[in-house]
Amino acid sequence: MSKTNTLSHLAIIMDGNGRWAENKGLPRREGHKEGAKIVRQITTWCAHNSICYLTLYAFSTENWKRPKTEIEFLMQLLKKYLENERQTYLENGIKFRAIGDITMFNSPLRDMILKLEEDSSKGKNLTQILALNYGGRDEIARACIKAFKSYSAKDLENIDKTEVQRLITNSLDTAGIPDVDLLIRTGGEMRISNFLLWQSSYAELAFTPTFWPDFSTHELENIILNFKNKLRRFGGL
Ligand code: IPE
Ligand code: IPE
Ligand code: MG
Repeated sequence: MSKTNTLSHLAIIMDGNGRWAENKGLPRREGHKEGAKIVRQITTWCAHNSICYLTLYAFSTENWKRPKTEIEFLMQLLKKYLENERQTYLENGIKFRAIGDITMFNSPLRDMILKLEEDSSKGKNLTQILALNYGGRDEIARACIKAFKSYSAKDLENIDKTEVQRLITNSLDTAGIPDVDLLIRTGGEMRISNFLLWQSSYAELAFTPTFWPDFSTHELENIILNFKNKLRRFGGL
């Protein structure tokens, strides 16, 4: 008898905003604006379709390499998004969380993030996690510093590897959140780009050529259907 997989943690690399706009002869920022609207649609759908955690890659530690004007536009867009979507979180029982090193953001933006985390903390339908100035290696490095700060050389000599894994897992930004079950990347590239490296070790991967602004709940449903019927072995038989 076959059993279908449960999807607790869905993660998405929302890629292709710039190319979506360029293909239409529009400035890249129009792609980012359209992409933000899709975030609301996908998040609301997840809140009403039994997904517990949705992690969205919004800005990577490498995205600072982009032109200053694009970075500034993205920061403004994030601010507007958090302001405008406040009701979406509260009305749909969505808890908001941020992961990544937000100390790099200006203080009004940081305050908005912390306030929305607090105000939406009772949300029971879905936890939406935005990865902001997020990099998997950066997160693991920060987790190691946090986990082993108080350890002496002697402690580390005798430490058990399984215990080290447990300590790192519990010191990541995602502490308390289960590993990723399904990782989707839109925009046609087949790479991870430093996203959730530790947490995706056994994630099922799905890549679609659809640019993020054209992604839909219909396409998401099809990807999830496919995921549900996969045989996940986790190294066993
Ligand atoms: C993803 O779209 C959004 C961010 C990385 C902020 P891109 O801006 O990477 O769009 P493409 O990949 O250049 O089309
Ligand atoms: C990944 O997209 C980061 C986000 C979606 C936020 P990028 O467009 O930055 O990735 P690369 O540069 O193509 O690998
Ligand atoms: Mg890209």
